Amino acid sequence: MASYIGSATSRVDGTAKVTGAAKYAGDVNIPGLVHGYVVESTIPKGRISRIDASAALGLAGVIDVLTHRNRPQMADNDDAYKDDVAPEKGSPYRPLYDDKIQFCGQPLALVLAEDWETARVAASLVRIEYQKEPHVTDLHAQRDNGFAIDAPAKPRGDAEQGFAAAAVRHAAEYFIPTEHHNPMELFASTAIWDDGKLAVYDKTQGVQNVQKYLCGVFRMKPDAVRVMSPYMGGGFGAGLRPQYEVVLAVLGALALKRPVRVMLTRAQMYGLGHRPASIEHLALGANSSGTLDSMRHEAIAVTSQFEEFARNDTGWGNLLYKSPNAKFEHSLVKLDVPTSCDMRAPGAATGVYALECAMDELAIALKTDPVQLRLQCYSDRDQSEDLPYTSKQLRECYRRGAAEFGWDKRKAEPRSMREGSELVGWGMASGVWEALQMPATVRIVLTANGHAEVATAASDIGTGTYTIMAQVAADMLGLPIDNISVKLGDSTLPQCPVEGGSWIASSVCNAIANPARAVRGDLLELAKAVKDSPLAGAGVDDVALTDGRIVSKRDANRAVSIANAMQSGKAERITREETNKVAEDKSHARNVHSAIFAEVKVDEELGVIRVTRVVNAVAAGRILNLKTAHSQMMGGVVWGIGMAMHEETLFDHRFGRVMNANIAEYHVPVNADVHDIKVIFVDEPDKTINPLGIKGLGEIGIVGVAAAIANAVYHATGKRVRDLPITLNKVVQFN
Ligand code: MOS
Repeated sequence: MASYIGSATSRVDGTAKVTGAAKYAGDVNIPGLVHGYVVESTIPKGRISRIDASAALGLAGVIDVLTHRNRPQMADNDDAYKDDVAPEKGSPYRPLYDDKIQFCGQPLALVLAEDWETARVAASLVRIEYQKEPHVTDLHAQRDNGFAIDAPAKPRGDAEQGFAAAAVRHAAEYFIPTEHHNPMELFASTAIWDDGKLAVYDKTQGVQNVQKYLCGVFRMKPDAVRVMSPYMGGGFGAGLRPQYEVVLAVLGALALKRPVRVMLTRAQMYGLGHRPASIEHLALGANSSGTLDSMRHEAIAVTSQFEEFARNDTGWGNLLYKSPNAKFEHSLVKLDVPTSCDMRAPGAATGVYALECAMDELAIALKTDPVQLRLQCYSDRDQSEDLPYTSKQLRECYRRGAAEFGWDKRKAEPRSMREGSELVGWGMASGVWEALQMPATVRIVLTANGHAEVATAASDIGTGTYTIMAQVAADMLGLPIDNISVKLGDSTLPQCPVEGGSWIASSVCNAIANPARAVRGDLLELAKAVKDSPLAGAGVDDVALTDGRIVSKRDANRAVSIANAMQSGKAERITREETNKVAEDKSHARNVHSAIFAEVKVDEELGVIRVTRVVNAVAAGRILNLKTAHSQMMGGVVWGIGMAMHEETLFDHRFGRVMNANIAEYHVPVNADVHDIKVIFVDEPDKTINPLGIKGLGEIGIVGVAAAIANAVYHATGKRVRDLPITLNKVVQFN
C-alpha cells in the first residue's frame, strides 16, 4: 500500500463543507433558540452613566436586555479570566462586567430576542449615556511614551560602535499599521443550558482553552461545561483567546435558562484583538566586503491599557544573518484599544518585513545583488543562542526560487525594466518562522470491521488538520484512509493545545505514533491467539499493519487479518490513548525558512501597482500533504499581497474609533489582485526535530512576502515606501 503521508490527499472534510453538512458555531439550530445582539460602546474610554433599555424591552419579541447591572454572576478575580494564551502581565478584559469602558466597540449590553432581526432592531433602541474620559489611540503621537519589555534576544558585542565604524550603513524606520484578521466566518457562539450543564458551540482555535476559561469565569465544574468547535471558517489567531461572544452567549443562557446564540457582525469584529501597529527601526552596518558588522532592530508596538501583549518582532535577524555586533529593543505603547493579539506569524510578519526591506536597502548601498548579500551574510547557526539548526535549507530556497523566477535576468538599476506603459520591478526577501511542537494526547479506537477513530481536542481552523491526521493514522494503522475517521473540536476529547503557531501538525501527527503502536501490540496479542497463528513468537516491532492485516516484517506471507484477529479474540474494539510529552531539546534551533521573489508592474502615470508574479520557495521539513500545504502557502502569499498593498485599519483618533470597520473599506486582496503564484517546497529531511520530521506550515507563508513586494516596488519606481500599505498615492510621485 502506498504511503498516504506526503501525498496530495483531498480534504477528508471537503464534502461536508461544500454540501453544508459541516455545522459552524452560528449554524447550530435548536428549538427555542434565543438570539442575542450586542450593543457596543461608541466611545473608547470612560464610564457608563446610564443605560435605558425601556424602548428595546417594549418591542414585541424582546425577552431581556442584559447589562453589567442585571447579568448573572461572574468571577471577580483576574486569574479566572486568564486563558492559556493570555499575556502574562495585565488584567484580562471582562465582558459586561462593570461600568468601565476601555475601548470603542466594547460590548455594553446584550439584547435577547426570539429572532435575530428583532434583537438587532431592539439593539438600536438601547440608549447609553457616557461619562467620557480623554483617550489615546494614535501610536505615532504616543511613540515616546512606550516602556521597554524584555529584549527577545541577547545583545552581542557593541552594536553602536560596530555601526559607527561600518564602511556602508543603512538606517531607517518602517511602519506596519493595525490590521484585523477578517476570517470569512463571523465569530459566533451558541450556548445550550441543560439542567446545570452547559454545551457551547463556539468559533475557537482552542476548545479546551475556552472550556477552562468558562469554568473560571462562571465558577463551574469541568464536567459541567463542554465546548465544541468542529469546523472553523478561518481563525488566523483571532480565535486563540476566548472572545467576548462566548461569555455573552453563556450569560444569556444562564439568565434565561434557554439556548442562546450570539453572532457578531463584521463591523463588531473590529472591536476584537488585532495585529498591533508597529514602528520598526533597523540599523545595519556592513564592511566593504559585504558582510554585516552590526545589526540593530528596535520595535515600538501597541498594546491595550490593561494587558501587555508582545511578540518577537526583533530577533529574526539572528536566525538569518551573521553579525558580530547586535542589539534588540522592544517597547510597548498603551492605547485605548482592545488588547492586540496574535495574527498569522505574529512578530515575524512585521519584524521580518522591516528587516528584509532594510537588507534590500543595504544591498543597494553596497551595490550588491540582494540574493548575493543574503548568501554573504548567511548564518548556519542561530546567532542569539549559538545553536545549530535541526535543518536549514534556506540556501536551496534562494537557489530554487531565483531559478524559477528567472532572477538572473534582473537589471540592478531601479526603473530600468519596463513593459509598455508599465515599470517592472523585481524584489526578493527571506522568511523565517519557528518549528514548534507541543504535548498532545491522541486516542485511537479500532473496531473489528477495520475502521479506526482517531481523536484529540484540536480545532481544524480550515488548514487541513482532519486530513493530515487521517493520512498519518492510515499509514500507521495500515488501513485505507476511508476507514479512518478523525474527531476534533470537542473539549471532552483528549488534551490538545490551541491550534496556533504552526505547531499543530507536528504535535498531533507525532502523537499518533504511540497509541498506534499500542493498538498494534494489542492486535498482535489477539493475532497470536488465533489457532495455528503464523505470528506466534513475533514482537510488536517485528510486525506492521498493512492492507488491513497484521504482517510479519520478515515474511509477508505470515499475516493475520485485523478482522480475523479481533473476531477470534471476541474483541469488538481496541482503545488506546497516549500522551506525547515532547522532550525539551536545547541543543538545536528549530525553524522553517523561505525565499520569496516578487514581480510588480506599476503604471507610470497613475501609480497603479499590480503584483504580477510571486515565487515562494519554502523549506519546512516533511510536507505531509502537498495539496493542503500548497493551499496554505498560496493563502499566505495572498495575505502578504494584502499586507503590502491593501490592509490598514484606519482610526479617527478624535473619536478613538475604527473608520473602516467593514471589508468594503478595509481592503483585502480580491481575485483581480492575485496573479501568478508559484509555491516550491524544498526537500528538507529532518531526523532531529521529531520522528516524522514535521516542521509545520502556515505562518511561514506570509513572512517576507510584503518585503519582497515592497522591494519590487522600489526596483520598479525608484521610490522607497516604508510605511505599509503601499497605496498608489505613495508611489505616484516618482523620484
Ligand atoms: Mo496563528 S497566529 O493562530 O495564524
